[in-house]
Amino acid sequence: MRTPASASATVRVPGTTANLGPGFDTLGIALRLYNRVRVEAVPGTAIRIDSPIADDARDGATAMLAEASEAFFKRAKKRRHGFHIRLEGDVPIARGLGSSVTARLGCVAALNVLAGIPLDRQGLFELVSTLEGHPDNAAPAVFGGFTASTMVEGVARAIRFPLPAQARFVTLIPSFEVSTPAARKLVPQQFSKADTVHCLTRVALITAAFAVGNLEALRGCFDDRIHQPYREALIPQLSSVIRAGERAGAVGGWLSGSGSTIICLTLDHADAVARAMARALPGSRLEVLRADASGVQVTR
Ligand code: HSE
Repeated sequence: MRTPASASATVRVPGTTANLGPGFDTLGIALRLYNRVRVEAVPGTAIRIDSPIADDARDGATAMLAEASEAFFKRAKKRRHGFHIRLEGDVPIARGLGSSVTARLGCVAALNVLAGIPLDRQGLFELVSTLEGHPDNAAPAVFGGFTASTMVEGVARAIRFPLPAQARFVTLIPSFEVSTPAARKLVPQQFSKADTVHCLTRVALITAAFAVGNLEALRGCFDDRIHQPYREALIPQLSSVIRAGERAGAVGGWLSGSGSTIICLTLDHADAVARAMARALPGSRLEVLRADASGVQVTR
């Protein structure tokens, strides 16, 4: 079997925060926290993962990347080939920072380079959103910045815009993992009219406030009634960490994706907010991050 002319490609994929409180499965922001994915084409059809992941996670990761690569070859109408893939970087696994998107998107974006770029960014976004089951982490990882996204008649659609430069995302990454499927099971099937209106009005305000750069208007808007109250069973410190960040000057905070990470948005109190959040959940990793504006990038 022929292997591609260029035998390896490396891409950088940003971690992401999804939901932003009430924007369940729609809002997302790309963060300057990155994983790097290198794919080398090899003869045959085998996939080998080279990554500092635990042995018991390797089979799951191999199956996930086999599915992603199959979907890529089919959509790009390219012949399947084997590859070695190396995944490394700063986006932790199972913390609600989009690590599965960094793996899936990194894999298909690198394969796309090896194949001569048959898919554009929208094509990569549609592919990864279908694999993920929801587009809210895939959208910012592909396009960067702030994204609103959903599936429209079965096809992923996103609108993105850049974030105001002064936004800082104080990111508290607990030492414990949360499984997204387990956290999704906790979200109810139905919601009251009051809770639905509470959330959809805030989602409109959040999107508008970020779009026009009026971040002060976001105070109080991240309060959610769709998923966070139910997921506190898995992250019992959620409300106290957000309250601690707000008391130290944050505009507001939310559970990142399905957790366990908790993020507070701040404009000019990042160190005080970080200290307050750390006191509320000791033993966590803390990062003060800016938004990523570029999305996935080919680096070699
Ligand atoms: N919107 C998804 C959820 C993101 O909250 O389940 C998963 O990271």
